[in-house]
Parts: sequence; C-alpha cells; structure tokens
Amino acid sequence: MPLRLAVPKEIAPGERRVAMEPTVAARLVKMGVEVTLQKGAGLSAHFTDDDYADVKIVATAATLYKNADLIFKVQPPTLKELNAMKDGAVIVGFMAPGKNPEITARMCEKNITSLAMELVPRISRAQSMDALSSQAAIAGYKGALMGADLASVFFPMLTTAAGTIRPAKVLVIGAGVAGLQAIATAKRLGAVVEAYDVRSATKEQCESLGAKFIDTGVKAEGEGGYARELTAEEKQQQQAVLADHIAISDVVITTAAIPGKPSPRIITKEMVTRMKTGAVVVDLAAEGGGNCELTEPGKTIEFEKRVIIHGPLNVPSQTPVHASEMYAKNLFNLISPFIKDGELELDWEDEIIQKSALTHGGEVKSELCRRPLEEKK
Ligand code: NAI
Repeated sequence: MPLRLAVPKEIAPGERRVAMEPTVAARLVKMGVEVTLQKGAGLSAHFTDDDYADVKIVATAATLYKNADLIFKVQPPTLKELNAMKDGAVIVGFMAPGKNPEITARMCEKNITSLAMELVPRISRAQSMDALSSQAAIAGYKGALMGADLASVFFPMLTTAAGTIRPAKVLVIGAGVAGLQAIATAKRLGAVVEAYDVRSATKEQCESLGAKFIDTGVKAEGEGGYARELTAEEKQQQQAVLADHIAISDVVITTAAIPGKPSPRIITKEMVTRMKTGAVVVDLAAEGGGNCELTEPGKTIEFEKRVIIHGPLNVPSQTPVHASEMYAKNLFNLISPFIKDGELELDWEDEIIQKSALTHGGEVKSELCRRPLEEKK
C-alpha cells in the first residue's frame, strides 16, 4: 500500500497557511505517495481543491486523519486532532514544544513520531528545510510594509514641485533572518536604514544591505549562532546608545529573540516617550511578549496619542500564498529523501532527522525539549 500523506485545513484562529502547495503535491504523487487533502484546506491561501491535481479530497478531518501514515501541518496539533490520528503515525510541522507539554505527552502515548520544524538544525545541508528562516523572511518583509503603512511620512526621498521630501529614518533592531529582510525591504522603499544586533557577525550583513550599523559596544554571541541574554549592565549600556537612535527614527522595527526565552525587552516606556510624534514601532517579537515594554501582543496601540505601537501576531500568515509555498517546500525537502518506492523510511542515523525529532517510539527524543518538560513536571 502506498504511503498515505494527509494535509488538514488549519484550525488555529487567523491561520491562513496550508502545509501543501499544488506543485509540491504533484511531486509527491509522482513519487508514489497517496496525497489526501481535507476539503478546502488551501482556500485561505487561495489554492482551490481543483488546483491540487491527482490528490484525494475528503470532507472531514476525522476521515482524513483516520488512515494517514504521514501528516503535514502548519500549527501544532490540538489534542482533538491528535486523538483522531492513528497510533504510530508520523507528523511534521511546527510543534511549539515549550508551550505544549500536554501535546508532546499525548504524542508519546500514541507512539506518534513528530518532527518539529523549530528543531531542524541550522546547518548548511538543512537550509532548504529551514521553515523558521522561510517564515521569518516573510515576517521581516511584511514588517517593513506595516511600518511604511502606519508611518505618517513617506519612506522614499521625493523631489516634487512642492519641494523635496526627506526620506524616512527606519531603525531595525535584531538583524537575524527577519531583521535582514526588513532592512532590505525598507531600503527598497527608499528609507534611510540603521540597524542593530548584539551579534557582531551581523554588522557586515547589515552594511551589505545598505544599512548603517549601530555599535553599542555590547557583544552577546550565544550558542549555535544565536544571541544570549544580556546582563543588567549590558542592557543599560545598550539602552543608553539605542535611545538616541530610537528618538530620531520615524519607524522602529524590532525582531530580537533568544531561543526558548521571552523576547528581550529593549525599548522602555521612557524611550518611547522620547520618540517623535507620529513615529511607529512595529514589534515583530510580539509573539514572545515583545521587544517594547508597551507592546500589547495582537494589538495596535497609540501611546499618548502620539506613537503607534503595533504588535502583530502570526505575520507570515498574512502573506499566505508564498508562506504556504515556501513552507510546503521546506517540508518536502525534509521528508522526500526518506521516501523510497512510495514508503517512508526515516534514517535515524541522519543528523537532521535526529535533531528534528520531538517524539519517537513513545519518548521525547529532543534533548533540547526533554529537560524543560521534565522541569515542568
Ligand atoms: P532569532 O529569531 O533567534 O533572533 C533574531 C535576532 O535577534 C538575532 O540576530 C539575535 O542576535 C538578535 N538579538 C537577540 N537579542 C538581542 C538584543 N538584546 N538586542 C539586539 N538583538 C538581539 O534569530 P534567527 O533570525 O532565527 O537567526 C539566528 C541565527 O541563525 C543567525 O546566526 C543566523 O545567521 C543563523 N541561521 C543559520 C542558518 C543556516 O546556516 N542554515 C539559517 C538561518 C539562520
């Protein structure tokens, strides 16, 4: 019997992405996989059922999950979804393991093998499977557009009959994947861009995109190419330098994150008080609590009726076509090397599979996730 791959309609509120895109489905079908989609699964990403050729369509999630050997998802499964899956199935998607201990536990009970897209290692060979990067790039792009939209000034310099308009000043804090894309997008829109990160390797990357790098003297390289948390003194030193740059910016886009921790608080209320009237903060770290003290995740607020603080959630979902396309390709690139003659054979000697596995054989496999889960017990 061929491998049965199922793709449900995402049920998380506001989620518009789908874990399958028509060309990816066609490639899987060619490899001998039986692809089944829940009716209307791609509609919020503008893919109709007819766009997926040679794919089976079923009406309900219950029917879909009942027979599936392999499931592609965007958002972590709910308990109800998990209960509908057969024991021993393989599921691939974002799992938010830190936030969902009961989901992880249920997957162990059901002997489900889960590959978490958050855990795919950031090594060269895995770049084509890196969904954190593909989705962060979309968030950065969209964040710059949100800033341009909410700003009370033009981004580009304009020479008009009514005089010359100076370009907007944009500051990007956190120059990882999202931040670099925000810089590139703001530059393309004509803004003058400054950027800041605690990892010194980002200086050259920011400059190559045309941004001026702000040196605060704080360096905080952590493990695996990520940043570490700052000490109280380092925070103070960072804030002392950044405050002046924030005060003169028209738009500040923040993306700073530390794996497994709440978003670092970088912009204080006092710093916002010093911002120009009409200035905007787009806090792309809102999901983790926000980089700005005043951010209300999921809301847009106006501080003292002067400064807009925007804390959008699930930003990649707002560009659902390309977000779904890139995500589905990430899943395909992760799984397809292990599909042989229409069967799935995960290679447990492979570093990418080993590190991406959250649960397998009734156990929490990921060293990274096991410790915090045990501490929570
Ligand atoms: P992230 O989403 O964890 O964090 C975003 C940025 O915030 C990072 O650049 C981080 O240094 C910065 N940050 C943290 N605390 C800060 C603070 N207090 N002030 C200012 N900035 C702060 O990072 P992301 O975008 O996921 O990338 C992290 C690393 O992974 C980078 O080194 C990147 O080059 C690397 N990477 C490697 C890939 C590969 O080789 N396959 C693919 C993608 C990323």
